[in-house]
Amino acid sequence: MKLEERYKVIEFVDLGDERGNLVVIEGEGMDIPFDIKRVFYIYGSDSTVVRGQHANKETEFLLVNVSGTSKVRVDDGKESVVIELNKPRMGLYLSSMLWKDMYDFSKDSVLLVLASRHYDGKEYIRDYDEYLKMIAMER
Ligand code: TYD
Repeated sequence: MKLEERYKVIEFVDLGDERGNLVVIEGEGMDIPFDIKRVFYIYGSDSTVVRGQHANKETEFLLVNVSGTSKVRVDDGKESVVIELNKPRMGLYLSSMLWKDMYDFSKDSVLLVLASRHYDGKEYIRDYDEYLKMIAMER
């Protein structure tokens, strides 16, 4: 599978009106391809921090900078691409088995992450060489 088939930038509909903005993300194939099992958010990271640096064997993710901005480098072991998250309406869908780094967080960055699975440390690949071996077997 090519890198561009493993991730997707999604623009969500804004249901806002004169009272303000309202963005809805429905799971199970409506707005994003998976059923949402877990939500976490990252804030208080700054421009010197690199987070992530792992791949997940099973979990799919959807990332949204609901406040501020950050960058995500997505790598499939062959190619990489950098996506800047800079709008609360913009989501980045990541399939499983992608190596990802999150960095360059603005001071006001709140990075919301929706996940398709509950947390399980055993499905994290934290060693890049191990990731390369596993992805080579998949190909
Ligand atoms: P870590 O994977 O380093 O976060 P990031 O991907 O943002 O760099 O997670 C930090 C710690 O939090 C680590 O001990 C695992 C734990 N953790 C959970 O218990 N549940 C979760 O859903 C997440 C994302 C992390």
